[in-house]
Amino acid sequence: MASREQFSSKTGFIMAAAGSAIGLGNIWGFPTQTASNGGAAFVVVYFILAYCMAYPALMAELVIGRHSKSNIVTALKGISGDRGAPWFGVLVGIYGVVVASLILSFYAIVAGWMLSYLSESVFNIVGITQYNAWFTEFSFSRNFVFLAVFMALTMFVISRGVTAGIERWSTRLMPLLFILLVALIIYVLTQKGASEGLKVYLLPDFNQLSPKLILDAMGQAFFSLSLGVGTMLIYGSYLSEKENLPKLGAIVTFTDSGIAFVAGLLIIPAIFVAQEHGTTIFTETGSLIAGPDLIFQVLPTLFESMGSVGVFVAFAFFLLMSIAALTSSISMLEVPVSLTTEETSMKRPMATLIIGSAIFVISIIILLNFGALFGLVIDFTTVYSQPVLGILLCVFVGWIWHRNHVLKAIKSGMNDVENSFFWKIWPMYVRFICPLLILANFVQSLRG
Ligand code: PFF
Repeated sequence: MASREQFSSKTGFIMAAAGSAIGLGNIWGFPTQTASNGGAAFVVVYFILAYCMAYPALMAELVIGRHSKSNIVTALKGISGDRGAPWFGVLVGIYGVVVASLILSFYAIVAGWMLSYLSESVFNIVGITQYNAWFTEFSFSRNFVFLAVFMALTMFVISRGVTAGIERWSTRLMPLLFILLVALIIYVLTQKGASEGLKVYLLPDFNQLSPKLILDAMGQAFFSLSLGVGTMLIYGSYLSEKENLPKLGAIVTFTDSGIAFVAGLLIIPAIFVAQEHGTTIFTETGSLIAGPDLIFQVLPTLFESMGSVGVFVAFAFFLLMSIAALTSSISMLEVPVSLTTEETSMKRPMATLIIGSAIFVISIIILLNFGALFGLVIDFTTVYSQPVLGILLCVFVGWIWHRNHVLKAIKSGMNDVENSFFWKIWPMYVRFICPLLILANFVQSLRG
């Protein structure tokens, strides 16, 4: 058997894992959730939950992955030998693979919209404007074309493998994402109206603290760290035994929540700058416009009103969104592809082609039944399945896998782990606190 690929360096892993975590959820989801949930009060709760709940769950995935050196199905089957039944591990693993694939099927549609707005800005820069309506209006042809382009990009990266694909492209794109984000923030903060937005974003209104806010923050933290579906597990499986897992997990959590916070410094002030330019930014019920209308209406109107510089700002913004989406989507596709290459004799390029095409077909079915399926798939995957899988993965590490085996798996790369603060707290967290917190979130979302 050919030797298994690994990330060539610590930085390679951090870029790839942060690339998976940092996506549309950070740049779009986090700022808008913050704005509609009491500003800084939400930020504070989010940060507490990101470190106290999402980080321990991320560690569970990384530890299982690095120990098992395999995809989620084989990994869970392996560790369920300790105190469970292998078939249960296989079942949970397959559930994770299905959910990761379905997340990709809707995420790629949204990412396609980013690419179409990006293309519009390029056409505008070179002075071609007669296709603007096609680029920006909802139509099957537009959705289909950009979905296809986005899936092709995702498949290209994954077909190249771990170092030449995932690691190389994450390492190239993530610094660019950061530069674009900072440049856009500097520009937007110099515009009239921005300080109003900063106030909404940064001044906490603790009156808005509610169970709903806490649960929203938890769901956001979970989606943002790509948890539950085996993406972090498979990235962890490409890590060398030399690496200190608790430290790397902390860096990824910190980078993810840091970028989410920084993205808020762009999006919320930009909304208020748009208001300054005459755009309506509140819905009829008085809350800030947060859904697709924000990205595809409020902000484009703002860019248009900025005069000649606007097309470049639009270009930078949609490039930022496209990059964020791509480094996340590759991690989703890696989940089913790694399972196929490891469990069958199929080579990576062929597995990528077949699985990528199958997911593409699912996306087309969603597009053809948009009203009925789009929201349904999002709810099934992110609202229901990610929390359920999160609980199950914590149960695997906390209850099924033998504690001594867990310790041994973490010890590699961190010799003194037994005496660390991490080992005093974390096992209890994955056993009790994480599953219970996630369960509370889940029950609440079922009720809501
Ligand atoms: N973390 C990504 C985001 O914030 O946009 C979304 C995501 C990526 C979810 C990978 C799930 C996943 F497996």
